[in-house]
Formats: sequence, structure tokens, C-alpha cells
Amino acid sequence: MAESAAEQGRAADLRPLPAGPAGSSTGVEVRPAGVADAAGIAAVYAPYVHSGVATFEGEPPPPAVLATRMTTGLPWFVACAGPEVVGYAYASPHHERAAYRWTVECTVYLAPAACGQGVGSALYGRLLPVLSERGLVTALAKITLPNAASIALHERAGFHQVGVLPQVGFKLGAWHDVGLWARSLVRDLPVPPAGGD
Ligand SMILES: CC(C)(COP(=O)(O)OP(=O)(O)OC[C@H]1O[C@@H](n2cnc3c(N)ncnc32)[C@H](O)[C@@H]1OP(=O)(O)O)[C@@H](O)C(=O)NCCC(=O)NCCS
Repeated sequence: MAESAAEQGRAADLRPLPAGPAGSSTGVEVRPAGVADAAGIAAVYAPYVHSGVATFEGEPPPPAVLATRMTTGLPWFVACAGPEVVGYAYASPHHERAAYRWTVECTVYLAPAACGQGVGSALYGRLLPVLSERGLVTALAKITLPNAASIALHERAGFHQVGVLPQVGFKLGAWHDVGLWARSLVRDLPVPPAGGD
């Protein structure tokens, strides 16, 4: 029987990401993160808080705050070059209201020197399958526009744009639009979802 467009879209979303060049050839390893990585993660993130608009956070969070954020129970991964954290990706709850609990937001940041080498794809290649295995259903990503690299990464990873939130942030002297991208994490919508309703 022919699949509907929605079914085809869900199946396409779940194709594994190509491995990309990150790995032994680049000396970058992707592994699950622990709170011991909080200082390295904070160092990668801080410049984007200070001088970028990819995040609307106003002050760089200290490692202790990041360590607390890492204990939501959702997965975090780091990309490391030797002992140094050069990037990270994680999932966070989309919304506190109960019915949203199968929906997460995905976030990824790399040190500038690690960009453009497949490291972001390698991080999402680890993160997204874990979210599927855990019974989560929908992954979202919010991207301050424009951001060609982030859009390309997310669309490579199976996300598609579902909207734009216009003029929702003011930072560094300008208003910014945020694009909303979504990706299914399941082949078939579970009814009821994992854990029941
Ligand atoms: C966005 C980011 C995570 C992408 O990670 P990355 O490791 O550089 O991306 P990859 O090398 O895995 O490439 C993924 C895709 O993006 C494309 N890409 C990478 N850099 C790009 C750029 N500067 N412009 C356009 N496309 C780009 C790649 O060609 C690839 O697409 P393809 O498979 O169709 O060829 C990284 O650039 C980054 O950390 N940027 C700063 C922080 C940020 O913006 N984070 C996202 C917040 S929403």
C-alpha cells in the first residue's frame, strides 16, 4: 500500500545521519556528557552569549548552573579533541505543561575552530537516536535568523522549518526573528505514548 506523504516524511526523518568526517580522522570524539564537562561546555558557550545572537541568554552561565541544567534527565553529548570540549549538543524540555512531555528542544554549539568539519552532524547523529529510543516523539530547534550553518545542519538531520517567530528577541542593538524547525522522532505516532497519558 502506498505511504501517505506524512508517513513518508516521518520515515525520511529517521534515516541515519551520514557519519561525517568527525571521528578518529579529525581526532574529535563524541561521547555522553557528564557534569565534569560543565566547565568545558561553559567555555564553548560563553562567546556566543557575549557576542552572538544564536542564544538570547544575557550572561554566560557558570559551570555550576550548566551542571544543574544537565540533570534534567535528557541526554547531553560532548565532542572532545583530546581533553578539550570543542562542542556539545543536548535536549531540553520544550514546555512544562504535561502534554508537551514527549517534545524536546535540541541545541548545539561548537567552538569556532571545530565548525564545518562534521562535528555538529556527529553530535546530532548520537543525540537523535537516543531521543527516539527513549520514546520521545518530536524534536524542535529554534534558530535565530539568519544562520546558514545551523539551518543546513538541522535540515541534514531531518528537521524541517515549520514557522518563524518574528521580532521575538532584542540583542546587540537589533530585533531578531527566530525560525522554528521540527523533526519527528518516531515512525508511527504512539497512542498512548510511552508512559501513558
Ligand atoms: C551550527 C553548527 C552547530 C553546525 O555544525 P558544523 O559541525 O559546523 O556542521 P557540519 O560540518 O556537521 O555540517 C552540517 C551541514 O551544514 C553545512 N554547513 C556547515 N557550515 C556551514 C556554513 N557556514 N554555511 C552554510 N552551510 C554550512 C554543511 O555543508 C552540512 O551540510 P551538507 O551535509 O548539506 O553539506 C556550528 O556551525 C556552530 O556551532 N555554529 C555556531 C553556534 C550556533 O549557531 N549554534 C546553533 C544554534 S541554533
